Amino acid sequence: MVNFSLNEEQALVQKTARGFAIEHLAPGVIKRDETETFPGEQIKMMGELGFMGMMIPEEWGGSGMDTISYVLALEEIAAVDASAAVVMSVNNSLVCQLMLDCATDAQKEKFLKPLATGKLLGAYSLSEPQSGSDASNMCTTAQKDGNHYILNGTKNWVTNGISSDVVLVFCITEKGVGYKGISAFIVEKGTLGFSTGKKEDKLGIRGSDTCELYFENCRIPAENLLGEEGVGFKIALNTLGGGRIGIASQALGIARASLEKSIEYAKEREQFGKPIGTFGAIQQKLANMATEVDAARLLIWRAAKLKDKNRPYVKEASMAKLYASGVAMKNSTEAVQIYGGVGYMQEYGIERLMRDAKITQIYEGTSEIQQLVIARDLLKK
Ligand code: CAA
Repeated sequence: MVNFSLNEEQALVQKTARGFAIEHLAPGVIKRDETETFPGEQIKMMGELGFMGMMIPEEWGGSGMDTISYVLALEEIAAVDASAAVVMSVNNSLVCQLMLDCATDAQKEKFLKPLATGKLLGAYSLSEPQSGSDASNMCTTAQKDGNHYILNGTKNWVTNGISSDVVLVFCITEKGVGYKGISAFIVEKGTLGFSTGKKEDKLGIRGSDTCELYFENCRIPAENLLGEEGVGFKIALNTLGGGRIGIASQALGIARASLEKSIEYAKEREQFGKPIGTFGAIQQKLANMATEVDAARLLIWRAAKLKDKNRPYVKEASMAKLYASGVAMKNSTEAVQIYGGVGYMQEYGIERLMRDAKITQIYEGTSEIQQLVIARDLLKK
């Protein structure tokens, strides 16, 4: 039977995240977008609230919560500040989850604990200039040298690239064997030969930082290998399944904020002597926006529930991301339309929703890659 009700803990997480977002993220969100300012103070507070390692067991510094709690919190954060939401999503579902699944106890002690408590911030670095969707076609190498690996290459579009303390990096350890030659590594900021590029000037999520990473004879301890050599690509894809649930929740937050702000404005804005919400054209938009927000949420909750039950969820995560990111784009565009001239002006924060929405159709797998993942699953039987 389908159960849509939240338990006490989940309801509390939702309420806490909502309160935090309104009190600490809403003030300054438009300014941070304009000035491309990372919400460092707020991310620190999110760590203190247990939001940076939500699904990590308490023994490793996390909050030991389920994925439903995680998507609830992320939706609330994203509804106010999509930039803070992606910082949270990457740290939780890409960095901490990957470490929980693949790291040794020593690696967990050293890296996962501070990452899950929010004392350190993590980034996940897979893409390269020539390998975005075709992720295994990477060039960055990691060559074994005694008790070390030496990394050489360039990574790009790395979310949290500048503000992070630790980066999970995927490199080729054996050439000529395709994805079977890819391995995953933990690289600490400050390691000689590791540098970051300039902060990218982006259309949206401008409060989060994105940059290139450069590895030039960067020597890291061999004990920073995650799992075994050659299993890195599978680790990367496995982790992205959960990541896509996170980005779907970010998209849902944007879509819901677009709806809520549109309802508010439809009630107060008058044209032809009446609130615009009394006109059929606006009512139809609101009705469609609300229906699609609920549909997106149900897809996300289904994927989250399957993950919590340790059941296959890759297809469902892709469906959730594909749909929710489309809804974020549609709803935010409709919100700008409903607000009209006001919506187009930067100071009201409506056009920001539309700019923030677009990336959810691109990162952690474009919508076309989600369709490919879904179709492959449908056809494999
Ligand atoms: N979990 C574990 N293993 C998986 C898997 C999964 N979800 N999906 C596939 N695999 C396995 C396959 O079974 C295969 O192994 P076998 O040969 O043993 O069966 C192996 O991995 C290779 O799989 P494919 O042959 O399917 O690989 P492919 O090259 O055809 O591509 C792809 C697969 C789905 C297109 C993949 O490249 C992909 O997802 N691309 C998108 C990349 C992406 O999402 N990048 C995001 C960057 S990170 C980011 O954006 C973070 C951020 O900033 C917010």
